[in-house]
Amino acid sequence: MIPQPFIHDLLNRLDIVDTIDRHVPLKKAGANYVACCPFHSEKTPSFTVSQSKQFYHCFGCGVHGNAINFLIEYSGLSFVEAVKDLAEQMGMPVPEQQPEPDKGNTQYLSEEGQDDLERPSQDLFEVMKIATRFYREQLKVSDKAIAYLKKRGLTGETAARFAIGYAPANWQNLEMVFSDYKSASTQRMLLSAGLIVISDDGDKQYDRFRDRIMFPILNQKGLIVGFGGRVIEQEEPKYLNSPETKLFEKGRELYNFFSARRAIRDAGCVVVVEGYMDVVALSQYGVAYTVAALGTATTPFHIQKLLRQTDKIIFCFDGDQAGKKAAWRALENCLSQLADGKYVSFLFLPEGEDPDSYVSKFGKQAFEDQLKQATPLSEFLFMGLSRATDLQSSEGCAKLVRDIKPLLQQVKAPALALMLLKRLSQLSGISQTELEALLQIKRSFTKQRTQEFAPRKAPVTPYHWLILVLLYSPSYISKLDRDVLAACDENIEEVAALKSLIDFLDVHPNIVNSETTTSILIYLQDSPHRALLESVESETLEWDESIDLEAEFSGALMNLQEMQRKKRMTELHSKSLNMLTEEEKEELKRLVIS
Ligand code: UTP
Ligand code: MN
Repeated sequence: MIPQPFIHDLLNRLDIVDTIDRHVPLKKAGANYVACCPFHSEKTPSFTVSQSKQFYHCFGCGVHGNAINFLIEYSGLSFVEAVKDLAEQMGMPVPEQQPEPDKGNTQYLSEEGQDDLERPSQDLFEVMKIATRFYREQLKVSDKAIAYLKKRGLTGETAARFAIGYAPANWQNLEMVFSDYKSASTQRMLLSAGLIVISDDGDKQYDRFRDRIMFPILNQKGLIVGFGGRVIEQEEPKYLNSPETKLFEKGRELYNFFSARRAIRDAGCVVVVEGYMDVVALSQYGVAYTVAALGTATTPFHIQKLLRQTDKIIFCFDGDQAGKKAAWRALENCLSQLADGKYVSFLFLPEGEDPDSYVSKFGKQAFEDQLKQATPLSEFLFMGLSRATDLQSSEGCAKLVRDIKPLLQQVKAPALALMLLKRLSQLSGISQTELEALLQIKRSFTKQRTQEFAPRKAPVTPYHWLILVLLYSPSYISKLDRDVLAACDENIEEVAALKSLIDFLDVHPNIVNSETTTSILIYLQDSPHRALLESVESETLEWDESIDLEAEFSGALMNLQEMQRKKRMTELHSKSLNMLTEEEKEELKRLVIS
């Protein structure tokens, strides 16, 4: 667990412009910085970063947050990873705090929070680095390994770029770089890193990877977390991968993801292939926007990670039965992750070819032409389901509907779901309405981000203005007329949000008085009104020096008084005169004059 004050301190000290600029180059535009949004595709920049307030906001898709949120969203890091990453850059040691079970203060405890207490994973990363360096050196001196890679058409430059190495044939090679290889502590480290195996009787320790070409696997931060090792001769298994370790979770990592990010953005799409060699060969031929799952099926997490980078995924599988099967599993894992505007397709290479062999034989252009021919997900879905089905018969149509039901129910993207339903209706001859009932699909699909693209054009209420000013300059809290607020209706979300903001500022005078200008939303990440507050905050991005806060603030307060005067008058007027008490009559008189 990381103590909250540390997180706030961190956010106050760093500069979000640096953090984001490292990943997405920013341009200065007036008081802010802008870029084309990394979270949706666009041609003109609407992704805006406020240096003074230390937050980002996209006027296109509505994403909003601080530096930590950015790393979580952009790099797919967990909360703890993001904090550690930023802290490291700032040279701030991350303090750890024992969880206090009865305080219920768990919001910052990530899935790996507990684990972090006991071990420094830094050492494990270091171990992986040492091993990688060792394998690379061994490649340079192994004629056999070099000859193999040459035979496969790899250039030395490509091998270097992917940090490909060679684990020699002996049993305990790593002893050459870990001099205390057999000491208890080193043994434990190497075991945690997945680099050694201990014999069943527990007394022999030997390297996991022997006589294999080594492909280091990097995580999204560029740190080595595992290896894939390929045999040189015919042998089983052909590839041996690192086991799941603290560093390496196969369902989360993708081979080449880290290095391909730039190319993926530039190309506007990512190609997902099956093998290490496919990625390496494609990259050598100039198709750098390629990743591979690591000897596992493509998981929803993989897809989510990829869809954060790009709107377009092309799965490229072998044309054989195994390839079709892998593609179908990828399709199943995609459905829940799809949003309208995302595009997934499948490319099946001619029987007997894989991307590596194809690009080596026919070159980059031919491969990219193939990509353009890829089958859209929707088509692949219906092809797959209706292949062994006779759609001329009622039974066949019924089977199609039954088979598609669990798949269609996962699709949350409203327009896509509708199109699939239409297509199903055509194929089965069952009307759309009947299908909806049959498939138990609700018409009110969950609200999608894409629907929120239209700019908000509700009239700006005085509550809204008060929130705006307080967010921008919390010291205005001292000028607030509390009586006016007391009578406001808390069922209005803006009122509730405003009151929670005031409550927060009331109990944190140190924040109000502090010199820092960083957005106070860093303290309100768990507020039920966070979305509203973020959306209000984003409006401050369009302010320039001409804004007169003082005037806006008192104007808002006056408007509010006026609103309440009218409301109270209506209330009193609605009673017949003889029902009014003397005080009420006095009040009404006062209200009318003022
Ligand atoms: P392939 O057998 O298609 O490998 O397996 P490939 O990349 O074309 O291999 P080359 O060209 O013969 O070198 C695809 C992927 O499946 C995983 C690996 O990640 C491999 O890259 N795999 C395959 C394993 O994990 N273990 C195996 O024994 C085989
Ligand atoms: Mn291959």
